[in-house]
Amino acid sequence: MIKFVRSTDVLPLRSLVLRNGKPLQECVFPFDDAEGSFHLANTRDHDIISVVTFHAANHRKFEGKGYQLRGMATLPEYQGKGAGNELVNFAITYLRGQNANYIWCNARKAALSFYKGLGFEIVSEEFEIEGIGAHYEMYLKIK
Ligand SMILES: CC(C)(COP(=O)(O)OP(=O)(O)OC[C@H]1O[C@@H](n2cnc3c(N)ncnc32)[C@H](O)[C@@H]1OP(=O)(O)O)[C@@H](O)C(=O)NCCC(=O)NCCS
Repeated sequence: MIKFVRSTDVLPLRSLVLRNGKPLQECVFPFDDAEGSFHLANTRDHDIISVVTFHAANHRKFEGKGYQLRGMATLPEYQGKGAGNELVNFAITYLRGQNANYIWCNARKAALSFYKGLGFEIVSEEFEIEGIGAHYEMYLKIK
């Protein structure tokens, strides 16, 4: 089941999957509680197994209303079972209703096939994010 959750609800998975177990307060993004930000969780039996965050942010290369996808993480034992795909597809439908034109993200190289499977395309050269590794900017037109 997919639901909107508070920013604090996504922190444990962010920490575990994306930040090597760092303290929750170090996993907060500056815009987490800003207007236009929202957080989604996919649950199984009330447990959160996958999370993602979106915030209103245009990308320099594209026209219209953009949202950045961040903090995409699925619990290791549930990876590859469709939970992340369901979450982003839910967000795409919701954001179309908000008159958003596109979604973009900084995708880890290891997650490229996940985003490609959702229809995203690569729109930058490879670049390095210190401490995390190689990334690409990816873009999905939704309207
Ligand atoms: C990448 C990630 C978010 C995908 O979520 P997920 O719930 O495992 O993805 P789904 O099961 O919905 O989709 C799996 C698809 O993505 C692809 N994929 C890419 N990377 C994958 C990974 N590390 N694990 C599982 N599937 C992955 C698979 O090929 C699969 O495609 P298919 O359905 O055509 O076989 C998740 O695996 C994860 O949390 N990885 C570690 C953290 C990470 O890299 N986050 C992204 C930061 S940009």
